Amino acid sequence: MTSIEPLAALEARVKTRPLPRHVAIIMDGNGRWAEQRGLPRIAGHREGSEAVRAVTRAARRVGIEALTLYAFSAENWARPYAEVKALMQLLADYLESERGEMMENGVRLNAIGELERLPRNVAERLAQARAETAANRDLVLTLALSYGGRQEIVHAARAAAAAKGAALEAEDLEAALWTHGLPPLDLLVRTSGERRISNFLLWQCAYAELHFSDVLWPDFRDAELFAAVADFQGRQRRFGLTGAQLADGGPGK
Ligand code: FPP
Repeated sequence: MTSIEPLAALEARVKTRPLPRHVAIIMDGNGRWAEQRGLPRIAGHREGSEAVRAVTRAARRVGIEALTLYAFSAENWARPYAEVKALMQLLADYLESERGEMMENGVRLNAIGELERLPRNVAERLAQARAETAANRDLVLTLALSYGGRQEIVHAARAAAAAKGAALEAEDLEAALWTHGLPPLDLLVRTSGERRISNFLLWQCAYAELHFSDVLWPDFRDAELFAAVADFQGRQRRFGLTGAQLADGGPGK
């Protein structure tokens, strides 16, 4: 039904049901999108940044509170130098050109990852955009940059252990994660038909719903986001309980 449902009707339908508060996306398939067209890989990344713009707008419009995008993994530094350089330039351009739109739309920009590894032009524009948008409240857009889930957990474990030693509890580690302050992750989307987590938000995925789309990221737009949200809305989230317990109002029933 959803494949022929008009976009406006799909948008209206997802708005009437409980939304995921926090959606994260592994934006995969830029290279294949370009290769299919006989274009250089960076053309796929460039069209991918158009998808970032469209999906951010759509997420804010329906009322998603937090959108976290895997823009560059810690492992991506090992790609050919020319691709890394072009991606960093694309990020710098995006940060420069989107500040106005972020301000108009109440988007607060956030970033997670080993940000100290970013080149100076990206780091400076990131800091500028984060400062300028800090008071915005409609959507928090988090870019995962030089990000790795294992790296995040190691970083958090070191900080939490330094403070708490052997008394460390799960909440202490969670409070030391780069994602601290964001709502719990409800929905993780991966595009391009791949079905892997690829070191993204490993801790936060514990109870997230997973949605895999066959669409390559540069072609991902509002309709694909809303389809993922509709899929989420059709799931029963049990958090380790039984369906009967949930129907009765929780544990111990
Ligand atoms: C994965 O596709 C994508 C990336 C490694 C980069 C993601 C970057 C963008 C979407 C654009 C820039 C980001 C922002 C926030 C403006 P891939 O290259 O691995 O694709 P493939 O698997 O088809 O080769």
